[in-house]
Amino acid sequence: MTTTQFLAYAAISVFCVLEVNSLDTFIAAVYEHAVRLPDDPLTLVSPEEALAFMNRNIDVLEGAITLAANQGAHIIVTPEDGIYGYNFSRESIYPYLEDIPDPQVNWIPCNNPNRFGYNPVQERLSCLAKNNSIYVVANIGDKKSCKASEPQCPPDGRYQYNTNVVFDSQGKLVARYHKQNLFMGEDQFNAPKEPEMVTFNTTFGKFGIFTCFDILFHDPAVALVKDLHVDTVLFPTAWMNVLPHLSAVEFHSAWAMGMGVNFLASNLHNPSNRMTGSGIYAPDFPRAFHYDMKTPEGKLIISTLDSHPSHSIVNWSSYASSIHAFPTGNQEFKGTVFFDEFTFVELTEIAGNYTVCQKELCCHLSYEMSEKRSDEVYALGAFDGLHVVEGRYYLQICTLLKCETTDLHTCGGSVDTASTRFESFSLSGTFGTQYVFPEVLLSDVQLAPKEFQVSSDGRLFSLKPTSGPLLTVTLFGRVYEKDMASNGSPDLSTYSVKIMLVVMIPIVFSLCW
Ligand SMILES: *[C@@H]1O[C@H](CO)[C@@H](O)[C@H](O)[C@H]1NC(C)=O
Ligand SMILES: *[C@@H]1O[C@H](CO)[C@@H](O)[C@H](O)[C@H]1NC(C)=O
Ligand SMILES: *[C@@H]1O[C@H](CO)[C@@H](O)[C@H](O)[C@H]1NC(C)=O
Ligand SMILES: *[C@@H]1O[C@H](CO)[C@@H](O)[C@H](O)[C@H]1NC(C)=O
Ligand SMILES: *[C@@H]1O[C@H](CO)[C@@H](O)[C@H](O)[C@H]1NC(C)=O
Repeated sequence: MTTTQFLAYAAISVFCVLEVNSLDTFIAAVYEHAVRLPDDPLTLVSPEEALAFMNRNIDVLEGAITLAANQGAHIIVTPEDGIYGYNFSRESIYPYLEDIPDPQVNWIPCNNPNRFGYNPVQERLSCLAKNNSIYVVANIGDKKSCKASEPQCPPDGRYQYNTNVVFDSQGKLVARYHKQNLFMGEDQFNAPKEPEMVTFNTTFGKFGIFTCFDILFHDPAVALVKDLHVDTVLFPTAWMNVLPHLSAVEFHSAWAMGMGVNFLASNLHNPSNRMTGSGIYAPDFPRAFHYDMKTPEGKLIISTLDSHPSHSIVNWSSYASSIHAFPTGNQEFKGTVFFDEFTFVELTEIAGNYTVCQKELCCHLSYEMSEKRSDEVYALGAFDGLHVVEGRYYLQICTLLKCETTDLHTCGGSVDTASTRFESFSLSGTFGTQYVFPEVLLSDVQLAPKEFQVSSDGRLFSLKPTSGPLLTVTLFGRVYEKDMASNGSPDLSTYSVKIMLVVMIPIVFSLCW
């Protein structure tokens, strides 16, 4: 063989190897885990007791991992707080934490367990990945000691992080992500100084990872997709559902569609805390999802995804700014959606064209109901403002929703069943952001795969009559650059929110640990 021939041969071989090894599709699994919670999470336990407790949860996860691997899954995601539970204090979580090294150290804990001290949880997760030849994604706690001289070092001399870890199919630690956007009351953990942009490559695409409340903010969530171009997001979560716009399956599937990525969401299962809703979502439609408020059991979901999903660019304001407001005779009224004051109009006819505006945002709706029932009221609403309860984030929202009762004052409240089907709908808005998440939710908190689409000029429209009665059709827009807008002159809506908070303090609305 001449050198040229050899080089050509070598090049072809490398090419073939790459061809063989890179997969167009892969099989994803997510496990909704009915986590066992500590009896008294505020009591300090010994490290041995903490480990024994965690092993009981990992025993359950092991069953799911084995089952997923036997069905050919390449990767499995398990939930946030899925190994030790929640409601800890900073002190009481400490025995559950391990020192998790930077993945750059190139470590397979299963092969070399004591290289970085005693890390039994990382060792067991690594062995589960290796033994079953599957990527394992889990959420555990990291501890890092710091010197009192460091300006941000906590008084107890250590940082504690809510951490996602990923072990590849050889058991190697390939990703470690410290949660950036801690939820209200998550005082047992510290946030890293800078958002961590964690990605890793596989033969089935590029992956990014973040946790629960992170999904509402720009960094690292949006940046992973926009700047680092990940194909698939891994999303361990402990999500408490809040209707009408922030139930898990609804918002997570909308994020996948709005951002144009695959999204693997694994939630805890605890119906009494309103935690359920996991899924495997692609940009075009959800491949599989699970929502179950009735049984106490966990659930494994498996589905095939494209390794490199394609998606089209949408201009979210193009259509809405090109048309004139539909003339509506109906009286506008105010209603509260999760502490935010929306402007609504009632849909009084069986079919029609409506416009409603608030500040800069105008929302247009064309719709036809299958029947106009006397026992149900639907309304079209608009909101353009800063949300300030349990987090601070600027929203622009256009929504068609079912009101709780026929009393218009209840429009915007949580409701999870409906009776009215829609023959068609088309919703658009004059959004001042390119980050808009399209939601369609049916009665009993069910998704509507393949029943709707988004056009390149920003219309969310039905492809067929809805397969079930409708709870909401929503364009949920985020204006990240306005999150820090000064709240110098609180307006009436902020004031009324404060009053409501005082009245309602014992009730916890949405939690996302
Ligand atoms: C944990 O906290 C949530 C929210 O505060 C509460 O609803 C739940 O009852 C607590 N769970 C336990 C086991 O203490
Ligand atoms: C992995 O396999 C080895 C050898 O078969 C076994 O000893 C070990 O217990 C397994 N570990 C796990 C976590 O499955
Ligand atoms: C993944 O692969 C791409 C090229 O295919 C490379 O640019 C990137 O740095 C890799 N990322 C990681 C995290 O290895
Ligand atoms: C979207 O469309 C509107 C109206 O056609 C246009 O003014 C605007 O520049 C477009 N936005 C982007 C980001 O292309
Ligand atoms: C809504 O508007 C469209 C075109 O703009 C028109 O074809 C349709 O008849 C209108 N529907 C109703 C119920 O007014």
